[in-house]
Amino acid sequence: GIGRLADENNWGAYLVGGFVRDLLLGVPNLDLDIVVVGSAPKLAEKLSAEFGGNVRVHEKFNTATVHLPSDIKVDFATARKEFYEYPAALPTIEETNLREDLYRRDFTVNALAICLNRDEFGLLIDFFCGYSDLEEQRIRLLHNLSFIEDPTRILRAVRFEQRYQFQLEPQTAHVLSNAVAEEALKNISPDRVWNELKLIFAENDPVKSLRRLAELGIWPQIIPGLEWKNSIQESLNKVIPVITAVADITGVSLERWLVFLTVILRETDETSAVAWLDQLSITKEQRSSLKRCLEEDSAAMLQDLETPGPGELHKLLKDCSPLGMALILLFIKGQVEQNVYQYFRLRTRLPQLLKMDGKVLGKMGIEPGPVYGKVLFALEAAVLEGKVETVQDQQRFVR
Ligand code: CTP
Repeated sequence: GIGRLADENNWGAYLVGGFVRDLLLGVPNLDLDIVVVGSAPKLAEKLSAEFGGNVRVHEKFNTATVHLPSDIKVDFATARKEFYEYPAALPTIEETNLREDLYRRDFTVNALAICLNRDEFGLLIDFFCGYSDLEEQRIRLLHNLSFIEDPTRILRAVRFEQRYQFQLEPQTAHVLSNAVAEEALKNISPDRVWNELKLIFAENDPVKSLRRLAELGIWPQIIPGLEWKNSIQESLNKVIPVITAVADITGVSLERWLVFLTVILRETDETSAVAWLDQLSITKEQRSSLKRCLEEDSAAMLQDLETPGPGELHKLLKDCSPLGMALILLFIKGQVEQNVYQYFRLRTRLPQLLKMDGKVLGKMGIEPGPVYGKVLFALEAAVLEGKVETVQDQQRFVR
């Protein structure tokens, strides 16, 4: 439909960027990027008028985004028409505009285009040998100033390299290490770096990229004061399994970035960590819960217990939040780790195991008051220990 709508206006429309790259790699991708040699906002509006969904136009940048009802997102950008003197025999204006647009991009594998207009529908346009770089599994820059012009690309290079298990082409690797040596990432706002970091946390296997950032010496420019020790690896590897365990136990899905960031910031000197956090656009709640996580060390407190039973752990961990639970499971080691897991699992069954509540206590003739909380808490601990299973046992325990 996009090609037809563009044809009606005599505009060129090309699929570009990550969608084309992933199409050629056979990887699913639901985000379409379209370059329009014409008007991106108008083409977006036409698309949505015909197929439904919402359009958001950014007049200033001459771009628009359509969220189609089928969950597909289509970004439209207008190929900038710049003043240019064309020698008569050179390519058409349309081709030059597309080439210019693609040349501004980060890597050759992201600078491929597919024509959507009817006459050349499906034609792969490859000005910069992106296809052979895909085949050779290379991340290659389009020009040497790219990392300096847009330092977020340093992090993108690592993300794509690790996602597809590609290699940085030697010249690109060289330009990257120069940009790192020049501390290029310090020239952009912490928030822009943060956005890229969040994209890394959202990858299938973020730990590979996080480790690669360390190998390339990039971390000190992302979070000043972070000292990357190899021991961090063990906790990072546990993040995703722990988030899954917490979701199984509590039904709460913790945000990945929150847990990864906590692990990383615990390796950062505290003043720098707090100063860095204060610069990020995150919610007040997120900021304060992260700061609390930096101070809290429940895992260390539990570590000294040898083989604590569920009752004892209940006394310590009854009010533990899902994030607190994740931190404990991340940092606890040795025998006690099994006990803690067992306790958290058992705790989810407490509502079925506990046969008493305030009403029952009332019927037993116990005067309502703060004593109810204490009695029920002691009962919970005993139930978790498996000491009082039946209603009769539990009543006897209360008496
Ligand atoms: N792009 C760029 N420089 C950036 C960000 C983006 O040149 N700093 C270009 C690339 O051509 C990229 C396209 O814009 O392919 C779309 O960007 P984005 O949606 O961020 O990336 P994708 O390549 O689609 O990657 P992902 O699979 O992570 O969404």
